[in-house]
Amino acid sequence: MWPRKTRLISSAIVYLAAVLVLSSCGGDTRDRTDRLLSSKDSVQPDPAVRTAEQPADSASDTGGTLLQADGNDSGKAVTFSAMGAIDKTNPFFKPFGNGRTCESCHQQNDGWSITPRHLRERFVQTAGNDPIFALVDGANSPLADVSTADAKQAAYSLLLAKGLIRVGLGIPDGAEFELIRTDDPYGFASAKELSLYRRPLPSTNLRFLSTVMWDARETSSDPNSIICIVGTANCFAPLNVNLARQSDGAVRGHAEAVLGLTEDEQQAIVTFEMSLFTAQVYDNAAQMLTYEGGRGGPARLATQDFYFGINDVLAGDYRTHQPFDPNVMTLYQAWRDIPEAPKSATGVARARRAIARGELLFNTKPIDIVGVGGINDDLKVPVFKGTCTTCHDAPNSGNHSTPMPLNIGLSDASRRTPDMPLYALKHKFTGEVIETTDPGRALLTGLWKDVGRFKGPVLRGLAARPPYFHNGSAQDLEAVVDFYDTRFNIGFTEEERADLAAFLKAL
Ligand code: HEC
Ligand code: HEC
Repeated sequence: MWPRKTRLISSAIVYLAAVLVLSSCGGDTRDRTDRLLSSKDSVQPDPAVRTAEQPADSASDTGGTLLQADGNDSGKAVTFSAMGAIDKTNPFFKPFGNGRTCESCHQQNDGWSITPRHLRERFVQTAGNDPIFALVDGANSPLADVSTADAKQAAYSLLLAKGLIRVGLGIPDGAEFELIRTDDPYGFASAKELSLYRRPLPSTNLRFLSTVMWDARETSSDPNSIICIVGTANCFAPLNVNLARQSDGAVRGHAEAVLGLTEDEQQAIVTFEMSLFTAQVYDNAAQMLTYEGGRGGPARLATQDFYFGINDVLAGDYRTHQPFDPNVMTLYQAWRDIPEAPKSATGVARARRAIARGELLFNTKPIDIVGVGGINDDLKVPVFKGTCTTCHDAPNSGNHSTPMPLNIGLSDASRRTPDMPLYALKHKFTGEVIETTDPGRALLTGLWKDVGRFKGPVLRGLAARPPYFHNGSAQDLEAVVDFYDTRFNIGFTEEERADLAAFLKAL
């Protein structure tokens, strides 16, 4: 149940919605909403978005409020807050240690991550003095020269170009492997602290997480928990416990605070984060993603069911015991049957049908999954006949519903770009050598098989936060589709590539 204040706000929303609908009787509500949406974003909550997003039949009983729309290259994303308006006194927004707040790297208008475009603006506006530009993990190396404007620009080049933060992790004691060679363009990394350049994961849509952080390092094991991988003693602490610990770690690490957060502050941050839902709500071509039966947008997302093991690909659904259903995304089913529209709306109808086709491809396009660490080796199947949803199995959120970090090859030496370090790891017993730009999960477990494994993140609000993958190697969603096409020899046609990208942009 939401707090009373939220209920009041929600009544106000319903009232506002009613007024808007009534006042536009006889006119075209759709045109009116679209005009309001495409006008300059206001800092105030945007009643137009609420109206469109909160029709009487959907999320109006959820409570909460929709915040202003944030523009991106393919349209607009909106954040829905189940707690009502954003409380800027929440410790999420409080500066710690080096002056950073959580918001330094988790910004609402970037889908609660950060984007190179806005980072470059921040850099210019503050002459590189915004607290995000801190040597500890904002720079390519903590020892970088920042004595002149040019030097500064070079020192923060990965942050400015790809929105990457340096995560420093060492080889754990007792690991099965050792670091035998380091090729670090920035001259810092060592076995004690490898430099791993990673995208900030969004601090929104967290209710869907089974796994915290790219390498699952904040998903702690807890033998007393009942949250376990089916049929194993592999059990995990509840999400709120993991997130509380994560917030404390972020303050001590990124914000270089000597004292961490109080328990109250941790709780306040977790409550705040867990109340946020972000999704694209307006697409430049398909327009409102909530019209004609479309189920896009964050208010609907806030009502989406999720629990640990929902629709699990291996064991079936943990609660209903139904087998895995590859039909994971069901937002735009209604748009499959949109007829050729009247001439005036043909472009919109065409764009909606493309999104619906993209969704169908996501659910059904056959992919021969080969060479994926965490699937083919663990299950001992050389070819796993799957789809995108084999790995992105959580309904309408698209992450993995249990912790299952996978190596899909993104940090392989063959995909290394010159701006990335390359590490050669040697297995202590077999002598085998792997070269990688980021050992991923293996730096937590010390296990050879975990090299290059990362979690599949929540796939909502994607358009707001390019570039993609842990290392920011895909600059747009077309590049994501191309990666999969090459990696798994899928053979997408030009139309399929465009449809799938259009769908991903509408999430
Ligand atoms: C300097 C930038 C920076 C700051 C400041 C920062 N974060 Fe992050 N955040 C990141 C990066 C980078 C990751 C991903 C790191 C990884 O997985 O290795 C991340 C991951 C997360 C995640 C994990 C989400 C997921 O899907 O697993 C949460 C939650 C989060 N941050 C919350 C916070 C909170 C709360 C604060 C403030 C206390 C904070 N962050 C401060 C950069 C930052
Ligand atoms: C074999 C498992 C697997 C399959 C199949 C798969 N994915 Fe992924 N996906 C992942 C993993 C793991 C990641 C995170 C990888 C990383 O960044 O290291 C990911 C990341 C992504 C991302 C980037 C998210 C972000 O926040 O950066 C998108 C988008 C995506 N996948 C879409 C797709 C689409 C579309 C398909 C089908 C064409 C697909 N995936 C098939 C496992 C898979």
